[in-house]
Amino acid sequence: MPKKHRFSVNGDKVEVDADANMPLLWVLRDKLGITGPKYGCGVGLCRACTSHLNGNEIQPCVVPVSECDGQEVTTIEGLADGDELHPVQQAWVDADVGQCGFCQPGQIMAAVALLQRKSKPTDADIDAIENMCRCGTYPRLRAAIKEIAGIPTDPPGNGEPPKGPPEGKPPNGKGPDGRPGKQPQQGGDSSSAEGEQSGDEKSGSLFDGIKSAFG
Ligand code: FES
Ligand code: FES
Repeated sequence: MPKKHRFSVNGDKVEVDADANMPLLWVLRDKLGITGPKYGCGVGLCRACTSHLNGNEIQPCVVPVSECDGQEVTTIEGLADGDELHPVQQAWVDADVGQCGFCQPGQIMAAVALLQRKSKPTDADIDAIENMCRCGTYPRLRAAIKEIAGIPTDPPGNGEPPKGPPEGKPPNGKGPDGRPGKQPQQGGDSSSAEGEQSGDEKSGSLFDGIKSAFG
């Protein structure tokens, strides 16, 4: 049974007619036209919809609108101060974090919440952000969060110090006898040779989580 719900979104007071159990994400996107929070899974897993309720991170796809009565909702649209981006948004631009961009509003809202809880987050704190990114932008978003927190960033690539050749093998891809090692198969793509990974693929637990989630 629809009823009126009154709360504030990004500083503006709103009133909507909706069933008490309608998820906030539906209210934001379909009734209020606020489309920054993205619809990914609808069950609180992908976190593409991440926003804030009274300053705390929420996933609006699993928050009934009735829980927002009299409360303050903030979406990605409410972060900037006029034409001035929020510092986390600016850090995202400077680090060129986004790829397709779909997950990025939720990533930014999660990063803002993290930095409000802890101004100098550790790698483990950053990896604990569970927002999924199918484009694998995790190394860049980690760098952006560290930049804004004033934490020295990792070396480019995978966030780990460069590794030397495997024990017992000289550099330059030669075997222990000094002769060339295994070559890519004819017609094959050397970039996909077994054991090789791109920088993004080495990004650690977040990417491992995505790989297992999407097979
Ligand atoms: S759409 Fe809200 S968590 Fe996936
Ligand atoms: S930038 Fe494409 S899903 Fe994250």
